[in-house]
Amino acid sequence: MIKTAVFISGRGSNFTVLHENMKNGVIKGAEVCAVFSNNPAAAGLEYAEKEGLPVIVIPSGGRKDREAYDAEILEAIAPYKPDLICLAGYMRVVTSVLVSAFKNRIMNIHPALLPAFPGLNAQKQALEYGVRFSGCTVHFVDTGVDSGPVILQAVVPVLPSDTEEALSARILKEEHRLYSEAVGLFAAGSLKVNGRRVEISE
Ligand code: GAR
Repeated sequence: MIKTAVFISGRGSNFTVLHENMKNGVIKGAEVCAVFSNNPAAAGLEYAEKEGLPVIVIPSGGRKDREAYDAEILEAIAPYKPDLICLAGYMRVVTSVLVSAFKNRIMNIHPALLPAFPGLNAQKQALEYGVRFSGCTVHFVDTGVDSGPVILQAVVPVLPSDTEEALSARILKEEHRLYSEAVGLFAAGSLKVNGRRVEISE
């Protein structure tokens, strides 16, 4: 059973679905060992507490030294011995402090088909650019912004009538499915990183 620390900053729907799918067996061989947030007001923390999961909050407001901040996170999560960190709507770029301690063991979900539309408001960026398709990407995390090796992607159409909310909802449905699949593959030992490419074995 691999232990997963989930990092959130807000709503936490990806976190909730991951945890539910670990409990109901859709994701096999993984459990949530701790939930971390940089935002004390993150709505997802309520669900974590209701589920009796260990919660760690270190407010990031005003914290300029990103390395020192990540070193604190590292120390705070260490007692829970995570094998994997899942960034799930965690709106901070992680530094080499976390990335090197968890080499190829930090995943992120991003609401666009990377390398298109990295960073904030990816769904709005896609709409404004006028693409016909967008989607979501689960990738391993490096020190760049949404730039690490791609694990899985899912595609959704962008419709002429789409608002940012409508497109976001269509993508979010795929995010929930895709993130669970990626964590299941990691837990099964099926992911191997070879340079920029992630090899998936049965
Ligand atoms: C999700 O759409 C996720 O892909 C996005 O934030 C949302 C969080 O929702 N993440 C990013 O944009 C990271 N660059 P959630 O808190 O309900 O999972």
